[in-house]
Amino acid sequence: MAARLNVNIDHVATVRQARRAPEPSLVAAAMICEQAGADGITVHLRGDRRHIQDADLAALRGSVTTYLNVEMSVSEEMMGIALGVRPDAVSLVPENPNEVTTEGGLDVRANSDAVAAAIKRLGDGGVFASIFIDPDAGQIAAARDAGAQQVELCTALYAEATLGARAVHGEGAARAAAELQRLREAAALASQIGLKVAAGHGLTYRNVGAVARVAGIEEFNIGHNIIARAVLVGLDSAVREMREAIRRGAR
Ligand code: PXP
Repeated sequence: MAARLNVNIDHVATVRQARRAPEPSLVAAAMICEQAGADGITVHLRGDRRHIQDADLAALRGSVTTYLNVEMSVSEEMMGIALGVRPDAVSLVPENPNEVTTEGGLDVRANSDAVAAAIKRLGDGGVFASIFIDPDAGQIAAARDAGAQQVELCTALYAEATLGARAVHGEGAARAAAELQRLREAAALASQIGLKVAAGHGLTYRNVGAVARVAGIEEFNIGHNIIARAVLVGLDSAVREMREAIRRGAR
């Protein structure tokens, strides 16, 4: 069976926050994703609130009817917010204030007490807990020991290796194949020890197929590439509609 797709709509909020305007509406975006077959909606509430805002979580909680997954760091502030909103799932991610996007998985081995405490609080509040980790046996075991129900395997290194001409021949192709093998082994190990397995980061229309064939991966979280494509496939209608609005006004 094909894995579920949660669409990450952070970058709809990036466009909105560029003007601090009401549009584009995150709730409207979530509804369109659900109507198009998304199995869930993912958003990342960052400490710096560069895209998703606290009020978005409440609005999405009230309108998403599929599955709401909120990515956040393991901070006291974020745990309080998670327990207030009660999304269907929380995905714990590392966060560095200067990063452009999440840089690799959470080091669960180095932060085991904090991660275990966060997962306990989420579990007591009835929230499913996933941890975003690199496809590494030590991190998978640490995630299980911390009480996680799911691991999301970071596909960033695989995705990077698939970019551009390097991906077709030589070093890039070899690296992509090696990263896929790491993902296969990690997914098998995580499933074997009773964890559900998700994957994401940097996946595109071109590179997702090979990861979709990895046994055990049940869920994808994909954002940037979908929103990037939406801007392009939607631009034609958007310009036509504005031309028409001007024409109608001039009549
Ligand atoms: N999974 C996690 C844990 C992430 O932090 C992100 C990026 O917010 C994604 C998936 C989606 O990555 P992308 O936007 O590259 O598809």
